[in-house]
Amino acid sequence: MSMEKFKALVVDEVRENVFQRSIKEKSIEELSQGDVIIKVEYSALNFKDALSARGHKGITRIYPHTPGVDAAGIIKESSSNLFVTGEKVFVTGYDLGMNTDGGFGQYIRVPSGWVIKVPENFSTKEIMIYGTAGFTAGIAMYELQRNEITPGKGKILVTGATGAVGSIAVAMLSKAGYDVVASTGKTDKKDFLFNLGAKEVISREDVNDTSGKPLLKKQWIGAIDNVGGSTLSTIIRSIGHRGLVASIGLVQSDKFETTVYPFILRGVRLIGVDSAESHMDYRLKIWNKIFDEWRLENPEKLIKECTLIELDKEIELILMGGQTGKVVIKMINEL
Ligand SMILES: NC(=O)c1ccc[n+]([C@@H]2O[C@H](COP(=O)([O-])OP(=O)(O)OC[C@H]3O[C@@H](n4cnc5c(N)ncnc54)[C@H](OP(=O)(O)O)[C@@H]3O)[C@@H](O)[C@H]2O)c1
Repeated sequence: MSMEKFKALVVDEVRENVFQRSIKEKSIEELSQGDVIIKVEYSALNFKDALSARGHKGITRIYPHTPGVDAAGIIKESSSNLFVTGEKVFVTGYDLGMNTDGGFGQYIRVPSGWVIKVPENFSTKEIMIYGTAGFTAGIAMYELQRNEITPGKGKILVTGATGAVGSIAVAMLSKAGYDVVASTGKTDKKDFLFNLGAKEVISREDVNDTSGKPLLKKQWIGAIDNVGGSTLSTIIRSIGHRGLVASIGLVQSDKFETTVYPFILRGVRLIGVDSAESHMDYRLKIWNKIFDEWRLENPEKLIKECTLIELDKEIELILMGGQTGKVVIKMINEL
């Protein structure tokens, strides 16, 4: 076993429910168990990582902890017959970055059943531009398609559109030919969203009806909702006949109200998206589409790249809902 030392972002619980982040030196021996050791080249920042990094016992039970639900890099050691040293691989979700040491460290050790090979024509950086956010947007898109919400049937709403999931969803849906309406709280970021392919950009307030009416004017045939709360409630009441809403996130609230009328009078379908625990066969279906027909022509325009040292301020910004696009973290040649 390698004794190699490396750097990682470590979140300590200094007193009960008081957390502190710092870059520390760790050794591979200390890492969570698994049959594959990966030298991490790139990671990515997700809202969930920021919650774990701020201290959130619902996500990470035990601190000290290294967050990061996404990691892509090179196999350093493998006792699994599925992978050999030197292969380019990545991991998104499962328990990575939750209670398993995550991608904000220069090495991870994980079960081989979580690992996917990076295709020849992709770099580890490009994989992390998608990461959990792209995979999650991909699940929503796959569910729209297999439920016959195909391009040409109507408009698709994406909420929290400038966020990590939102921005990739806007770009991938647009590339697939959908008419995307992007809803955002950042009025100064309209051009960013148009540039990703959005046909219309509307304000967050336009999708926040508090009238209590059980049904609203039909506006969209599909929606990818990253925010929950009264926004999700508004969407469900505004979806057209047999339309579909994919519920992904909760940045506004984890609660929402609805009556049964959208479901029994309009046949609205509400589906839940869970990326972390998706089975490998389902995962590969989505990733194979991202590797091929859903691959973006210029994914760099979605991202801001930072280093492990710069990550702290990016964590603060995502917690305030202030990020535009995705943050990709370069983990190599660092420190
Ligand atoms: N189900 C899953 O498997 C899964 C996977 C990944 C993420 N998620 C969840 O999806 C959500 C988005 O994740 P992310 O990583 O994309 O986060 P993110 O980058 O922070 O994006 C969230 C976006 O939501 C908008 N927003 C922020 N605060 C808001 C508020 N109070 N009310 C309304 N909109 C608000 C902002 O976009 P605008 O300024 O453009 O409005 C923000 O950029 C999170 O709740 C995350 O936990 C779930």
